[in-house]
Amino acid sequence: MYDVDINGNVLKADAEPGTPLLWVLRDTLGMTGTKYGCGIAQCGACTVLVDGQATRSCQFPIEAVEQSKITTIEAITEDEVGRKVVEAWVAAQVPQCGYCQSGQVMAATALLKETPKPTDADISDAMSNLCRCGTYNAIAAAVRQAAA
Ligand code: FES
Ligand code: FES
Repeated sequence: MYDVDINGNVLKADAEPGTPLLWVLRDTLGMTGTKYGCGIAQCGACTVLVDGQATRSCQFPIEAVEQSKITTIEAITEDEVGRKVVEAWVAAQVPQCGYCQSGQVMAATALLKETPKPTDADISDAMSNLCRCGTYNAIAAAVRQAAA
């Protein structure tokens, strides 16, 4: 049993050591906003914030989470920066199928919390999440808008 601080609440997670945080979120805690894509830390669909850092939860074992604060897409608009990111996402109509977008929003929020006025190169470097629908131009536009 692990105590996990998620979105400001300390929750009990019954999981085997080594279980990825993604499975604890989705299967144990029923928080399905965070998505499974590749499972090998490549696509970014599973991105959450761990102490403010964008983290690929499919390769993040549950025992590494204790003492950390996790933020998921379910609570991202409670964060001032996250709220601006979501508003920009809606205004720019970024999502197509939407599958990758939770992870994209989390990555954008982490970027803007660390670098409030990113250059295009900063955006390109930070937004490494994959989108099979190809929404990359809209994502970059929304990040610039959220930073404005
Ligand atoms: S599911 Fe975690 S990076 Fe793809
Ligand atoms: S919006 Fe479809 S995968 Fe990104």
